[in-house]
Formats: sequence, structure tokens, C-alpha cells
Amino acid sequence: MTTRNLTRTDLAKLPNYVPGRTVPGAIKLASNEVPFGPLPGVVEAIAEAAQNVHRYPDMGVVALRNKLADRLGVDPSRVVTGCGSVALAEHLARAACMPRDQIVYSWRSFEAYPIIAATTAAKSVKVPNTPSHGHDLIEMAKAITNRTRLVLVCNPNNPTGTSVRRAELDEFLEAVPDNVIVVLDEAYREFVNDPEVTDGLVTYGDRRNVVVLRTLSKAWGLAGLRVGYLVADPDVADAVRKVVTPFSTSLAAQAAALAALDAEAEMRRRCDIVIAERERVHATLSAWMPDVPESQANFVWLPLGTRAVEFAQVCEAQRVIVRPFAGDGVRVTVGTPEENDAFLAAAESYLGPEADLSHPN
Ligand SMILES: Cc1ncc(COP(=O)(O)O)c(C=O)c1O
Repeated sequence: MTTRNLTRTDLAKLPNYVPGRTVPGAIKLASNEVPFGPLPGVVEAIAEAAQNVHRYPDMGVVALRNKLADRLGVDPSRVVTGCGSVALAEHLARAACMPRDQIVYSWRSFEAYPIIAATTAAKSVKVPNTPSHGHDLIEMAKAITNRTRLVLVCNPNNPTGTSVRRAELDEFLEAVPDNVIVVLDEAYREFVNDPEVTDGLVTYGDRRNVVVLRTLSKAWGLAGLRVGYLVADPDVADAVRKVVTPFSTSLAAQAAALAALDAEAEMRRRCDIVIAERERVHATLSAWMPDVPESQANFVWLPLGTRAVEFAQVCEAQRVIVRPFAGDGVRVTVGTPEENDAFLAAAESYLGPEADLSHPN
């Protein structure tokens, strides 16, 4: 009897998404979460929503979409919510790509992109990052063919923290054919303080082929509830709605998101702390390792190459969990000042002037 595969054989070669590790008792700086707990009002909103979890949520997500639309100054028909913005990226790929169509993105970037392309049966076209770890928009524009349906611009880029500025993005968008969707993945938008790193929705929201992806997982503190949204042309938004898993923005997620959005001032205060800490962590690391790129997100990137895994092990031995990308670098989330001090102490033992010479810089 022949044994036939029950599932797609190409998936065997596809790397799994690797979440940041949680180690009991250790400081977790591995998943780009904000460390200050849920925003005020969120826990109460979830508790209240819990009374009704025997009912399906509002499938149209009307109250939340209206609130987001109002905040962003767009028509609610342009807003789609989903189970995290990662799900929306997946839905967009499904809505835009037929098998073997192409998705262009910079690499290294968000590790979900290759998985999304492959599971959509689209072809990943990876354009190498510049030597300074950012997107090479000129090469990305050149990589577009008549099979390209989506271009993903991760701004700021996960995991390198680099960002593309307005002038280069203007030029890039002019070069992209208007039948190709450009996704501006702005999961870390709230941590941007460089005025040249423009808000994609404000600057490019009037372009039919631009889709802006945002999340409530990071700055808004709802990673565990899974709420993201996109803003697109109404026709693109309609197409995405067709492929969204029904009811995937849960009852608790909708309630929590509404409450979180009411706490914008507190969100801003917390992000400002993160930004100040990011600058401090970056300045300290730069003294030991000059090629740490500037970050506009809530993490920093150490381009340690083949030493990435060893560095993560040294940190873990000192009870700090960071996120290594083997052979490439290490991403470290900015935590509370005390957590960052613990990380910097661990990093100093490996990178600092007194570092053990068995792993020289
Ligand atoms: C660039 C980028 N986009 C999207 C996401 C997805 O976030 P979520 O699915 O939690 O909204 C992440 C999460 O790490 C990210 O780094």
C-alpha cells in the first residue's frame, strides 16, 4: 500500500514561526511587548465582556471600526480588524494573490512574511537589507514584475528597528505600478519620534494601492487578546473582509480595544518612557558595538552575526531572555528601566571593555 501525504509536502521545508521564549522568573525582552500591564479600564472591560461570551461577537466590529475610523479621520468602510495584524497580512495576501504570484519584501524583516507568502502559495521575493540593516527601496522597486501583487514595507522594520523616511518612500511609491498593493506595516508606529518617518496613513492614505497595517498588540498593550487593523481603499477592504475568518475579532478583544483606545494619553506616556529608554539602551550599546542601528521601534538590533546565539545564551544565564536570529543578530525589546539595566549588565559582560576574551568583539 502506498502512503500518500495528507498535507502539502512543501510545508515540511517551511520554518515555523518562533515566538519569543518565556522562562519563569527571567526577564522577557524577546517579544516586543510593552511591560507596563494593560491600560487603565481594559481589565474591567474584559470582565464585563466575559458575561456575554456565550454569544458571538459583532461580526461587523462596528463600534471598534467606527472608533478607529474617527480617530484616524477615515471612513469606517476602509477599516478592517483581525486577529492581530499578522492575520490581516495573511488575509491581504489571500485577497491579492493567486498561486505563484509574487510578494516582494526586504530581508531580514518580520519572520511571518515568508510563512504568509508560502501558505498563500505565493512566491517570496526577498530583497536583501542594506549594509546598514534597512530596506533597500530602490532594489525593492526593481524586484517588482508583472507577477507582483504585494510589496511589504515594514516601517520601522522588525527585527532591525530601522525605518524608511518620507523622501525615499515618496520616490518608491512613485516607482510602484498602481496595480500593485504596497503594505505599510506600521506595527511600531507609536514608538516613532523621527519627524521624517512619516505616518503612512496621513501621508499616503489617499493612494488606492496603499494599505496601512497597525496593531493594538504593542503600544496599546493587547498582545494577548489579538487585535490588529488595516486601513485600505474601500474595495480592497471589502475583498479582505471576504477572506477574514468569521468572528475573528473576539468579543473580549473588541471590548478591550475600545477601552484601550480611551486611554490614549496613558498609552502616549508609556511610549515616551519606552522611547527614552530605547535611546539610553542604544547609546550604551553603541559604545561597545558601533554598528547597532538606530531604532524607531521598541527594540534594538545587535548585528552579532555568528555570535548571536552565544550572546543570547550569555544573557539567559543572567536571567534575561532576548531573541536571537541565528547567524544574523539579536533583537532586544526595550523593557522597564530596571529590566534594561539587567540586560545592559548582561550585555556588558559579553560586549563591554572588560568582556571575557574568549568571545572577543
Ligand atoms: C512588523 C510586525 N507586523 C505585524 C506584527 C503582528 O502583530 P500582531 O499580530 O500581534 O498584531 C508584528 C508582531 O511582532 C510585527 O513585528
